[in-house]
Amino acid sequence: MRQEIKFKLSGEAIALEVNPNEVLLEVLRDRLGAKSPKCGCDKGDCGTCTVMINGKTVRSCLVLAIEVDGQEVVTLEGLMDSGLTPLQKSFIEHNSFQCGFCAPGMILSATELLAKNQKPNKHEIQEALSGNLCRCTGYTPIIDAIEAITK
Ligand code: FES
Ligand code: FES
Repeated sequence: MRQEIKFKLSGEAIALEVNPNEVLLEVLRDRLGAKSPKCGCDKGDCGTCTVMINGKTVRSCLVLAIEVDGQEVVTLEGLMDSGLTPLQKSFIEHNSFQCGFCAPGMILSATELLAKNQKPNKHEIQEALSGNLCRCTGYTPIIDAIEAITK
């Protein structure tokens, strides 16, 4: 039976009916037009579907939409209210993307890290990104971009 949920998506109030088995990733992409979270594996392994719920990163392919009732969800789109963030600019400056599929999740994971720790060392950065896989870059330019804004 469909159920109404209400939540905030990147600051905007959302109310919609969902099926009990609908996952958040599908709802965000297919019903709400938030295309930054991507479906890389659909089983919790790759991190391309990363979003924030109440300031913490989660894999939206593993979250049922009904679980976000009353919560605050932020996707990469929600970070860009006043243009690119310094972190996003640093990713561009360091050529941290090739295909870009991992980028939204990487940026959200790095954003979460920097909110808690403004001067992370390389090991802390690697650990924060450990749930986000990148098939293209070898990770070095991603870590360089994060390190650059912490100096
Ligand atoms: S699509 Fe969710 S972790 Fe890969
Ligand atoms: S840039 Fe292609 S997966 Fe990371």
